[in-house]
Amino acid sequence: MSQMRVDEIQMAYDDSGAGPPVVLLHGYPFNRSMWREQVAALSANHRVITPDLRGHGDSDCPAGPATMNTMARDVGLLMDGLGITRAVIGGLSMGGYVALAFYRLFALRVRSLILADTRAQADTEEAKQIRAQQAEKVMAEGMAGIADSMLPKLLAPETVSKRPEVVKRIRDMMLRTKPEGAAAALMGMAMRDDQTEHLSRIIPPTLILVGHDDAITPLQDSERMHHEIGGSRLVVIENAGHVSNIEQPERFNEALTDFLDT
Ligand code: MLT
Repeated sequence: MSQMRVDEIQMAYDDSGAGPPVVLLHGYPFNRSMWREQVAALSANHRVITPDLRGHGDSDCPAGPATMNTMARDVGLLMDGLGITRAVIGGLSMGGYVALAFYRLFALRVRSLILADTRAQADTEEAKQIRAQQAEKVMAEGMAGIADSMLPKLLAPETVSKRPEVVKRIRDMMLRTKPEGAAAALMGMAMRDDQTEHLSRIIPPTLILVGHDDAITPLQDSERMHHEIGGSRLVVIENAGHVSNIEQPERFNEALTDFLDT
């Protein structure tokens, strides 16, 4: 693990391999370890940067909401510090919200975009209220309750029934998140802008990936982005839910390498 002072936080990240840079942004309430299989697959031909977004993993968690724009600025500053002007920017779920915010802020720094198990819409009023309740719950009770209530929604039924090691890996990753970090991300996600009307202005090549059984950011959300983003490629991953990169790493990596090689 490496660390860099970025704005007011110490940001943890891994920097693996050499070649054209690819920055991969994890979801909530995960950390950079979720990209293990993708780092292994891509780092032979790419420089892969996997940060812990603020409040997650080994990065600091300052007080207040962690907005998608703040997280995107952190990523921009990290890239500055690493001497990376332009990169492939990819994110899963919340990481995808951050990738879309990054594109709005720094379009010219995006060589291409990878949007995995994510969506462009903002939260509904009801979703915002649920986030506020979850933030209170996590601060009062810690991560276990949230992790256990999220798990069945995060994973495809087949993953839950047949792959206990995947369930454990994801649960352990969620338990490592600090409650303050989870609460800050929940508040930040609730405040995020709706990106729908900006999708048609995305110019770089874009890969959209989604688990067929994603119950959190369902297939229709990805189909909508695919429809709006000109020339985008949509790959649906069978037997995967919301964490498609861990549930079906071979299929996910094949789509990534095909996209990066073209
Ligand atoms: C994630 O996986 O990052 C979150 O589930 C996204 C969300 O809650 O909207």
